[in-house]
Amino acid sequence: MAKIFIGALNIFSVLALVIFLKKCSDGERNQLRLESYCFRSGKIKRAHRFLFLTDVHEKEFGEKNEELLRRIRALRPDFILLGGDLVVCHKRRSERDRVRKSVRLLRALGREFPVYLALGNHEERLFEKAGWRGRYFRAEYPRKEHAKSREKAALFERGLGAVRLLDKETVLPEGGLSDLSLSGVSLPMEYYRPLPFRKKKPLSPAELRRAAGFPEDGAKGRYHIFLLHTPLYDEEAVRSGADLVLSGHLHGGTIRLPLIGGVMTPQYRLFVKKVSGLFPIRGGNLVISRGIGTHTVNIRLNNPPELSLITLLPEREEERGNGETAL
Ligand SMILES: [Fe+2]
Repeated sequence: MAKIFIGALNIFSVLALVIFLKKCSDGERNQLRLESYCFRSGKIKRAHRFLFLTDVHEKEFGEKNEELLRRIRALRPDFILLGGDLVVCHKRRSERDRVRKSVRLLRALGREFPVYLALGNHEERLFEKAGWRGRYFRAEYPRKEHAKSREKAALFERGLGAVRLLDKETVLPEGGLSDLSLSGVSLPMEYYRPLPFRKKKPLSPAELRRAAGFPEDGAKGRYHIFLLHTPLYDEEAVRSGADLVLSGHLHGGTIRLPLIGGVMTPQYRLFVKKVSGLFPIRGGNLVISRGIGTHTVNIRLNNPPELSLITLLPEREEERGNGETAL
């Protein structure tokens, strides 16, 4: 009898803990935090201030994202960079794919700000499932078309009309007088294959430079920002000429433990060291955002959604970003 009682008590305790953690996670997923980063460079002639959002995954803050938009307006960015994975697109079960909120966000942001976007693996997969290979991709995809994905891909593509999709081109985000240049690369799915069991597909700095449309003569002395959804190719990106690489994809490790860091990425990699924050690399810098939304494993613990505010200043002494600030 006592054993049954202790067993029931254990089951009840575990259930209570799971419910408690689920409640904490649900609350945290709605608590958008601002991370501020500041970089100085001799290439920068005047101050710039912009926002980086990634891995939105159809998450909204407030009705039609009014809360997110209000906070973005309050920060008065010069422009906005989107790091991909706005949508949710599963490997199978196209009926569960979602794009509508992303389209609404693209249009709302595009109405008020210059917005630049590089695609993430979820958008790549959406277009792949729609059978649109060759439209944005440099790889062959043998999978057959899915009518539902085609509809959703078409809707998302219409949303892209509100922003500037970066693919095989380098742009000057503030016009011809800008001391910045900006590239983005939309990598085919083969560069996102799960890593616990397979090596990452090699991608040389020269290939990356071509895929991102870097000019042959580099960025002509401009400070070069590179939108690269997955941080797995961070070194290659810096060696290809980037001063600042902006990534996401790893969702901050889902659950963050003190002293240990992120527990698991959406790709089911455990205890990956570089899942969020600032990482100096070979004279350049990598910022990995925790992202804004979730998918499939809808959990965030000690890992709140992130809006990244990046300030670039003319050179003086090196100044690094610091911790979180509640908005
Ligand atoms: Fe991703």
